[in-house]
Amino acid sequence: MSHVLILTSSIAGDASVSGGLVARTVASLRARQPRLQATTRDLGGSPIPHLDADAVAGIRGEPANEAQRAAQTLSNTLVDELQRADTLVIGAPMYNFGIPSTLKTWFDYVLRPGVTFRYTETGPEGLLKGKKAIVVVSRGGLYSEGPAMAYDSQEPHLRTLLGFMGVTDVAFIRAERLAFGPEQHRAAISNAEIAIEQAVDSVRTAA
Ligand SMILES: Cc1cc2nc3c(=O)[nH]c(=O)nc-3n(C[C@H](O)[C@H](O)[C@H](O)COP(=O)(O)O)c2cc1C
Repeated sequence: MSHVLILTSSIAGDASVSGGLVARTVASLRARQPRLQATTRDLGGSPIPHLDADAVAGIRGEPANEAQRAAQTLSNTLVDELQRADTLVIGAPMYNFGIPSTLKTWFDYVLRPGVTFRYTETGPEGLLKGKKAIVVVSRGGLYSEGPAMAYDSQEPHLRTLLGFMGVTDVAFIRAERLAFGPEQHRAAISNAEIAIEQAVDSVRTAA
């Protein structure tokens, strides 16, 4: 049976464009696979704690105090959710040209040497194989073409973070030009909805 991990990271709650498109993606997946199982993390609404020295010691070493043990337990839970999923659906607004710090923190907790990636004699190797990711990126401006392309630290960063763990089958759904007026806002959302259907069609049915 298919298992989807849903990550949202907007601070905008019900008004979130990426959150709405993530919900649409999951509804579309469920329409094709009614027995789909889902785990949800609302990183924007319920952030996990940012990294500090104890957190890193707990995540990447042997925990030596309560704070380090708590960080390792949280990391183990997040990694377990990730490993169990065959499909990831991620909502990532652009905040100041990059991803929300809450989503970056989730990656900080799941990027673990020996667990989700490892170093070999020929370089790093991602240990999460065979997963598909659908990533909704929302942004006020236009970054997929034109002069602002070089400012996009959102989509390339997400591709790197996922790819480093071995998740290389990634479909990006872009809702952009959201700040260019109501007409472009509407068009961005309908174009994204069309792209969602295409991405969902490409997800292998494992039900
Ligand atoms: C703090 C903050 C920073 C933002 N920075 C950018 C930016 O650098 N470039 C951009 O195009 N839009 C930027 N935006 C606009 C958002 O990307 C846009 O409103 C998008 O819809 C947010 O996604 P959401 O609706 O899922 O919350 C920013 C919005 C906020 C709140």
